[in-house]
Amino acid sequence: MPELREALDEVLRDVPPARVAESVRRLITEYRGGAPADEPLLRDMVDATAYAAYRMPATHAAIAAAFGQLPPLGLSSHVDLGGGTGAGAWAARDVFGRIESTVLDQVPEALRLGRRIAAAESFAWQEWRLGEPVPEADLVTASYVLTELDEQGRATLVEQARAAARKAVVLVEPGTPQGYRRILDAREVLIAAGWHVAAPCPHQLACGMQGRDWCHFAARVNRSALHRRLKDASLGYEDEKYSFVAATREPVPNAVGRVVRHPAFRKGLVTLQVCRPATTVGPLLVPKREGPLYKAARDAEWGDQWPPHPFV
Ligand SMILES: C[S@@+](CC[C@H](N)C(=O)[O-])C[C@H]1O[C@@H](n2cnc3c(N)ncnc32)[C@H](O)[C@@H]1O
Repeated sequence: MPELREALDEVLRDVPPARVAESVRRLITEYRGGAPADEPLLRDMVDATAYAAYRMPATHAAIAAAFGQLPPLGLSSHVDLGGGTGAGAWAARDVFGRIESTVLDQVPEALRLGRRIAAAESFAWQEWRLGEPVPEADLVTASYVLTELDEQGRATLVEQARAAARKAVVLVEPGTPQGYRRILDAREVLIAAGWHVAAPCPHQLACGMQGRDWCHFAARVNRSALHRRLKDASLGYEDEKYSFVAATREPVPNAVGRVVRHPAFRKGLVTLQVCRPATTVGPLLVPKREGPLYKAARDAEWGDQWPPHPFV
């Protein structure tokens, strides 16, 4: 992450801050609007730079957190659909180490900027529009892309990802009720096609949160001075909320349960909201008399598997 941050600061020096700030404001409005885009939201190099400056650290953090939930699969190649300025490729490198990433996107300026940011990396960059052939890879991903597509486009993207992935598909969306809904639809398609949901769900059943709540997680992102300025923010960090599904072509062992909210602490009692196959989602009380398990519960964080090793 420090390397990505330094690389971003480097390319940002070339663009007048006022133009980047103006573009950030427009992009924030358009992304918050959440409607499928008729034309690319990133229109030129300034937009691509603005996107990289204000969103890439956060999307990188969310994608890396999602990738971190995959079991070891020996992944050596990666294709990122709608990969923009390359957050997914950076995350794959950070989580999986030696992996060949190819970033596909419809906006040449985003690819060009991504290539500059990742000058020291050997990522490949390819202009691509949804529906055009996707090269096969062990891992195929798409992050924050379904949100820009209409229903037909989302179906096409999930189908293309599944068809091109030899081992795993990971899809990441904003951690909003709408983002969760899009992930849920994709999850259903993957399960219907015989794929195995590896994370975050500890089961292949219908999601127990439907209609009541939405499954999402948070990735902590430290803000650089520039990042703070662009977002008019004073806090030194932000929590990027995201929803995701990681699915594998072959079955892999699932977590027994997953913590789906910040744990609540009271004296001598930790309450965890845990998604489990039998009870779907519900509170789990871990009192002090549980000894080592209670200690583990005090350390548990939103998004963790529960129970952790060595209690499984
Ligand atoms: C919000 S950005 C996400 C970029 C990157 N995946 C990330 O997480 O930072 C969405 C990206 O999807 C790309 N995209 C949207 N619709 C597309 C389409 N029909 N074909 C190819 N790329 C598309 C956009 O050009 C943009 O780069």
